[in-house]
Amino acid sequence: MKIIIINGPNLNLLGVREKSIYGDQSFDSFLQTLRQEYSGQIDIDYFQSNTEGQLIDKIHEVGFSYDGIVLNAAAYTHTSVALGDAIAAIKVPVIEVHISNVHAREEFRHKSCIAKYCKGVIAGFGLNSYRLALIQFLLPA
Ligand code: DQA
Repeated sequence: MKIIIINGPNLNLLGVREKSIYGDQSFDSFLQTLRQEYSGQIDIDYFQSNTEGQLIDKIHEVGFSYDGIVLNAAAYTHTSVALGDAIAAIKVPVIEVHISNVHAREEFRHKSCIAKYCKGVIAGFGLNSYRLALIQFLLPA
């Protein structure tokens, strides 16, 4: 099974950025652990960009051949009609994830431009949100 985790803007600064919200682990070190945990079960690809167009290009690139996309679109979740359209345009199921519980935060974070086109949404479990999304792909449909 081939799954890609796609992270949006500022998530390259995990472990450095607003640690009280996002924790102190870098995504690179978390990814190493994830790849070990799922080795032999899920081949985990990874892409991060701070640029909306690059995220859309990656979604198009993988969106007809992979088994799933785990997407943390970060702030673009709340603003990007174009990302929503990209998800609507592809065949591969997308799970929207957030590290923080966006519904317990500022009002503008309660809105998602992408949730409607996703298979489901997981938010608020720290980096375990990504684990929960990956596990979902192993469960019976
Ligand atoms: C986030 C939540 C977003 O509102 C925020 O802009 C992020 C990270 C999360 O993972 O909790 O950058 O997607």
